[in-house]
Amino acid sequence: MEQERQQWRSKMGFLLAASGSAIGLGNIVVFSANAYKYGAGAFYLPYLIALVLVGLPVMWLEFGLGQTQQRAFPQAMGNIGGKWGEIAGWWALLNATIITMFYVAILGWVLGMWWKALMGTLWEPTAALMGFKMASLPNPTGSFFALISSWSNVIFVAIVWLLNIALVLKGARSIETGVKLMMPLMWLFMLVLVIVGLSQPNGIHGIYLLFTPNFKALGSYAVWNGAFSQIFFTLSLGFGVMTAYASYLPKKADHTTNALIVSTMNCSFEMISGLAIFTLVFAFALTPKASTLAMMFFVVPKGIAQLSVGYQVLGVLFFTLLLVAGLSSSISLIEALAAAVIDKFQFKRTKVILWIAGIGVLGSIACALPKIIDPGLASNGTLGLTILDLVDHYASKYGLLLVGIIECLIIGWMMPISKLREALNEHASIKIGVWFDVLIKFVIPILLLIPIALTVLDTMKKGLYGSKYVLGGINILPAATAIFWAAFTFGGAFLLTTLQASKNAKK
Ligand code: TRP
Repeated sequence: MEQERQQWRSKMGFLLAASGSAIGLGNIVVFSANAYKYGAGAFYLPYLIALVLVGLPVMWLEFGLGQTQQRAFPQAMGNIGGKWGEIAGWWALLNATIITMFYVAILGWVLGMWWKALMGTLWEPTAALMGFKMASLPNPTGSFFALISSWSNVIFVAIVWLLNIALVLKGARSIETGVKLMMPLMWLFMLVLVIVGLSQPNGIHGIYLLFTPNFKALGSYAVWNGAFSQIFFTLSLGFGVMTAYASYLPKKADHTTNALIVSTMNCSFEMISGLAIFTLVFAFALTPKASTLAMMFFVVPKGIAQLSVGYQVLGVLFFTLLLVAGLSSSISLIEALAAAVIDKFQFKRTKVILWIAGIGVLGSIACALPKIIDPGLASNGTLGLTILDLVDHYASKYGLLLVGIIECLIIGWMMPISKLREALNEHASIKIGVWFDVLIKFVIPILLLIPIALTVLDTMKKGLYGSKYVLGGINILPAATAIFWAAFTFGGAFLLTTLQASKNAKK
């Protein structure tokens, strides 16, 4: 018996959920970390070009897929590309599941730091740091390492999984209620941060740095590589999420406009948080480290700690902002995966969600393992953080972009794309032209191949990614995590695709 497919109660609910998925840690900290790493003013130009050339068209593609097929990603891809289309669809979702595992681990640390900020211990000098050689780490940094090197961080990670379960248990209904509360809160908190940042005496220098174009850096491949990866991650493309969310709206929805709204909301939030972070960082003359985690857990909290009044409140507010923004992203993948499993196997939702969370929490705990493997902090410190860094590399640097290429090729050539464009145009107030077909069939697959190829070349030059990570004298971690990633995503995709065949055979 086919269960009735769920629907959003309102168009607003869909827009909030989709932009909630897009706006996340990627907007608040990854963007700023990348912008700094790639020379600030050098970054937002390639970023905007990647948005127009790749981000927006692929979002049209993913929305259009959900609209025309009214199914989750694997089934929708299967309708067009047959068995291999379905395999590609599951592969995308499982790759995104790995991203969700480490993403929730990071949210667990956000919750841990939130708790420390609330209790006031975040600002006190850190006591002896268990196992780490550096007694003189500044407070937030010390607090962070104390957190991730103790088992308490695993508890925080588990709590974040519980929050996720609560938010997706009733599907579109509970998500809609959640995002209606979370999204306005998120914008409000971000505005407070911007106002505080802008009102600091030296804050304005951060803005100059962020927006002074640096045309020389545009010749660097690494900058373009960073911009394309950032656009995919920040817009939730290649996750299979946007297709599932769009499939919960009726066929007559105007998805051309919806994609414009979601990407504009996402990218303006990203620019605004760039303002907040860069002003805070410069007001206190802190040198930002170019890593996301450093930005989130050391640099910004240190900047906040230097405010003479209100730093406690602001610290709590900053971590609440990160948590809310992150949760509205992680739930989107859990829903997309659950939608796919339910569409295919007709299992009960509660059961599906509990299975996903059960497997997910194991992956998140792996990224939170507190064993200290590098007390000198030349690499990452703990085993969990090292695993996190490695799976992030495979799943985000290769996985997401590969999904982008595959969906463009399958939908572009097999549907073919003109049919999808006509379906989008039928209900849209802005019509998309034939140039869209050319982008999807030729331009985007080639453009996305470039960053992938560059990462491969880079890895060949420097050895397996992360060869600095050594466990017990043996360099097994990079290979072990790569094998895990490949087995989980490819093995799982084949399994989930064929499972139905055996079920049908029984019928
Ligand atoms: N777009 C999110 C961000 O910028 C990332 C994201 C989207 C995500 N969907 C997700 C992360 C699902 C984890 C799970 O942060």
